[in-house]
Amino acid sequence: MARVPGLFWRVKPLDQLLGETRRPQHQLRRTLGPVQLTLLGIGAIVGAGIFSTVGTAAAGGPNHLGAGPALLISFVLVAVACSFAALCYAEFAAMVPVSGSAYTYAYATLGELVAWLIGWDLILEYAVSNAAVAISWSGYFQELLRGLGVSLPAWLGTDYRTAGQAAAAVAQAAAAGTDPATLGASVLRNARALEVAPHVLGVPVVFNLPAFGIVAVITWVALIGIRETAWTNTALAVGKLLIIAFFVGLGAFYVKPENWTPFAPNGFAGVSAAAAIIFFAYIGFDAVSTASEEARHPQRDMPIGILGSLVVCTLIYLAVAVVLTGMVPWHTLGNAEPLAFAFSARDLPGIAGIIAVGAVLATTSALVPFQVGQVRIFFAMARDGLLPGWMARVHPRWRTPHLSTLATGVFVAAFSSFANINELVELTNIGTLLAFILVAAGILILRRSDPHRPRPFRVPWVPWVPLLAIGCCGYLMFKLPWVTWVTFFGWMAVGLVFYFGYGRRRSKLGTASVNA
Ligand code: ALA
Repeated sequence: MARVPGLFWRVKPLDQLLGETRRPQHQLRRTLGPVQLTLLGIGAIVGAGIFSTVGTAAAGGPNHLGAGPALLISFVLVAVACSFAALCYAEFAAMVPVSGSAYTYAYATLGELVAWLIGWDLILEYAVSNAAVAISWSGYFQELLRGLGVSLPAWLGTDYRTAGQAAAAVAQAAAAGTDPATLGASVLRNARALEVAPHVLGVPVVFNLPAFGIVAVITWVALIGIRETAWTNTALAVGKLLIIAFFVGLGAFYVKPENWTPFAPNGFAGVSAAAAIIFFAYIGFDAVSTASEEARHPQRDMPIGILGSLVVCTLIYLAVAVVLTGMVPWHTLGNAEPLAFAFSARDLPGIAGIIAVGAVLATTSALVPFQVGQVRIFFAMARDGLLPGWMARVHPRWRTPHLSTLATGVFVAAFSSFANINELVELTNIGTLLAFILVAAGILILRRSDPHRPRPFRVPWVPWVPLLAIGCCGYLMFKLPWVTWVTFFGWMAVGLVFYFGYGRRRSKLGTASVNA
């Protein structure tokens, strides 16, 4: 351990990382091929982003402008940014086929402090994003219930902030002489939530019960260790693609070309603000890298899985953007279930119901990999001593890290029942963009510090591609609202306090270097 640098710049040597996974008791079965890895990516990528976030990205929200039909351009911009980052992930995943993703890569290149910050930051990408997906699930689930003639009380189907924003949107529409009904049934219902809510000590109780419920179910699944088999994952990913193909194929018949003009009502400001929001829809290709210990030929198949899933999703997203903004006026799309709304607004409630069923299934399957992924990251960090040991404890019968699974469940459930989906999406995006930037920086650093290590997949045109990844992701971060920045800095500051108060002293690597 003589070469481990002092303090927080100490890195975990790559050979040590690889050696740990070669121990028989830590070996996972290598069963996944290129098609399964691509489908794994699609399974993680397609979720609330394309089913919900796309609506506010087109219509705008309280903190940002909408792109209008130019949403198409936003999707292209984000796809380009993500492909630079994806190339960097692919080099790492092929070279270091160790689970743990950006946290592990950072530990090997940028040192312990940065690794800790990324691990802490990844809570935003995994746990906070799952809270947003659960809220999207709840929106479509309630749409589905309504189709069956069942309505939850308004105060049990949303959160305080969303209810307030809906009430303001309805008042604004009325003042502008627009029929508030064009905002959609869910906005009208949310707008009533504060009025009809019971009060405790004078405070209205507004609570997203379905979101809480789905997180409880997913936590239970993760707890008892039901893992999606490659077969179920394949079926679910194909199912998601089919439901989107159904939306595009049928919706194309209901396009009114006049809805595409003006094409960019808020100019490039709207396009770039929407890009920073719909970045959420692309998150997940990096999750393929967490399966690298289970890939049959990680060196060849990791890049195929990461880049392949990104390309497939980009193509379907572009089709959705064109059809959705052609079906209804762009400014009416600001709700949590825009794909179903587009059909109900065209008086096709039956089709809206089918879309709602598909969206519920699609978002359910998007919840599992992130919930399990979060637990794995906590597990890896606790195993390294950066988080308390109980987070790495494994249940004797279920063989899952039950305590970190429960802690994750409580955290995600709390956020999904009380927080606003747009704010969670923005927070997830800023955190994930930072992770992408640090991974790209890691590529640059490792090319200099360890140039001779075999790289089965090499990012082309280094340093330009990693630099473009850093530049594009930095630009998208910069386009996020300032409130998101404030929350993000607060979150990272808490992480720093935790590291200096706990992780730095308890780190296994640190203890080993002191004892060496
Ligand atoms: N890309 C994932 C989703 O859209 C996070 O749900």
